[in-house]
Amino acid sequence: MVRHFLDLADAGGDAMAAMLNDALDRKAARKDWPKGRADADAPLAGRTLAMIFEKNSTRTRVSFDMAMRQLGGTTIVMDAGSMQLGRGETVADTARVLSRFVDAIMIRTDDHAKIIEMARHATVPVINGLTDRSHPCQIMADLLTVIERGKALPGSRWAWLGDGNNVLHSIIEAGSLLGFEVAIGCPAGYDPSMEVMEAALKRGASVTIVRDAAHAAADADVVVTDTWISMGQEHAEEKLAAMMPYQVTPEIMAAAAPDATFLHCLPAHRGEEVVEAVIDGPQSAIWDEAENRLHAQKSVLLWCFGLIG
Ligand code: CP
Ligand code: NVA
Repeated sequence: MVRHFLDLADAGGDAMAAMLNDALDRKAARKDWPKGRADADAPLAGRTLAMIFEKNSTRTRVSFDMAMRQLGGTTIVMDAGSMQLGRGETVADTARVLSRFVDAIMIRTDDHAKIIEMARHATVPVINGLTDRSHPCQIMADLLTVIERGKALPGSRWAWLGDGNNVLHSIIEAGSLLGFEVAIGCPAGYDPSMEVMEAALKRGASVTIVRDAAHAAADADVVVTDTWISMGQEHAEEKLAAMMPYQVTPEIMAAAAPDATFLHCLPAHRGEEVVEAVIDGPQSAIWDEAENRLHAQKSVLLWCFGLIG
């Protein structure tokens, strides 16, 4: 069976733990090495990853490219608009054709249904590089960052502040699989998907929606936020106004645990979802978090190829 990485819930907690352990080991083994040098075992030598972008990207594009280089493989990077996909070739036919050329496909798309369709017709692994519904690779990096800071994930408390979006959906899934609490501070009208919430609750998740921002952040080990306006959304004044009470400020961080870590997937909008004093302050782990996209995704790739777990 082909191993796709579409959502954390499909992979499951055991596979996630195996990937995170592998990422820690691989990262430690190449400490201080030149970034372009391959890992000693070059486990993906001879393999090629095709990447399709329907939306902008800096971190996902570069981290997957460097991940494949460090694993000994190569990449082909395509913007959907310059592919036949951009002028009407179906997702299914694109999946069938790419499966004849490359060993895995990563896609960033505006519609989660497209990645499901891609996986249905591909005979090689398909990896979710962000959809409107989820961003599982980002959360693998976030988990790695929290573990590196010496925090046990089970029983920890995460506070999400702001928009109930794709990144939050993957955090909710991760919490339900790895046993950490998620308190969501978001304004009415911008809640996460009830489908994602209900599926997590069925798995025994501790996930709550709290309208008061400081209450959501209370005693949190991790405080996390994201842009209020995701790619493809309108930059609406009324949304910004509704979000403002959920801005991550020093007061919010003071409500969290004293050693709380601040995370943000980036790109950030200083003065909107978070103020400079927090994102550029001592509790912020954003640069390690960004770097960890590389390390986490190497393990995601190895898992997809059946080389982990
Ligand atoms: N966090 C993240 O996915 O960044 P990019 O949009 O730059 O890939
Ligand atoms: N929620 C954001 C994440 C960007 C990495 C978006 O979808 O635009």
